[in-house]
Amino acid sequence: MSKVLVLPGDGIGQEIIAQALKVVDYLNDNNDLGMELVHGLIGGAAYDETGLPLPQTTIDAAHQCDSILLGAVGGYQWESLERDLRPERGLLGLRAQLDLFSNLRPAILYPQLASASTLKEEVVSGLDLMIVRELVSGIYFGQPRGIETRDGERYGFNSATYSESEIRRIGHSAFKIAQKRDQRVCSVDKANVLEVCELWREVMIDVAKDYPEVELSHMYVDNAAMQLVKAPKQFDVMVTSNLFGDVLSDCAAMLTGSIGMLPSASLNKDGFGMYEPIHGSAPDIAGQDIANPLATILSVSMMLRYSLNQAVLADKIEAAVNAVLDQGYRTQDIAVDGERIVGTSKMGDLVVTALQEQA
Ligand code: IPM
Ligand code: MG
Repeated sequence: MSKVLVLPGDGIGQEIIAQALKVVDYLNDNNDLGMELVHGLIGGAAYDETGLPLPQTTIDAAHQCDSILLGAVGGYQWESLERDLRPERGLLGLRAQLDLFSNLRPAILYPQLASASTLKEEVVSGLDLMIVRELVSGIYFGQPRGIETRDGERYGFNSATYSESEIRRIGHSAFKIAQKRDQRVCSVDKANVLEVCELWREVMIDVAKDYPEVELSHMYVDNAAMQLVKAPKQFDVMVTSNLFGDVLSDCAAMLTGSIGMLPSASLNKDGFGMYEPIHGSAPDIAGQDIANPLATILSVSMMLRYSLNQAVLADKIEAAVNAVLDQGYRTQDIAVDGERIVGTSKMGDLVVTALQEQA
């Protein structure tokens, strides 16, 4: 029996999580998944209800669960709030509180969607890369930070900081994942300009000594952005800092046709994880039944694989998603001319039907 904290959050969060829960319900009823769901608040939804984007009750609930399934946070109506009360702070706070330092963002191209990518098919077909992003340090969290007036002018500042141990542990995460893949790690930094990256590179080289079978290479982040668009299949595992990983993972997502397809895992040292689609709350399309729920459904599958030791059921979910794509069903974000466009809820139903058909 596993216990999962469900945090739908804001925007399209509610509707995409609802689809993922259809899949969970089905597997509970038919495949002995044994997942108990606990519901909680985060982001703008939590602020509206409690005055805080990350209420203590949510943190407490997280500590009592085996995993977290999160939708998305953020929306126009909360953008003018004081910084500490904004929805994004709730998400960052949860990552920090639970020390979810290792963020895995796979970019896999489903062959059925090769024509949905804005890049040429031959550039992206067969793409399967993993971005390992450090998630609880770096410039996102470094001190000092703020906006203050100096000499009569406003001055904004943040600090890009990494301790050696923080670099070391994300390095080990990346190398361990590469061991199970194509055994290649590309560490992305800006060591030609930033001291923090100089240390990053030095520590990565040291960590690599524990993994002689894995090949380590280094790339500056500007070149990495270019290479991702030019020849993305050269990469196996990319490991990088919080901010660079944020930027590169959106870029990698688009190679696959749509950011609406990609799940992610954020893990602590014990393998406790939070699972979420890498896309945001998309307030512009919320409530219209057009968002793609597949990244969230695939986040459940990632949870089963990485935290709950249920790889067989994870395979089942992935096969069901593949079957639905094979049948030609698409949400609007992944549709090209002539394909059958379905809404959010219908897409959830189709995945459940595909699970039934496998049985
Ligand atoms: C992500 C998002 C978040 C981030 C935002 C919502 C705070 O863009 O998970 O990539 O910057 O980490
Ligand atoms: Mg991002």
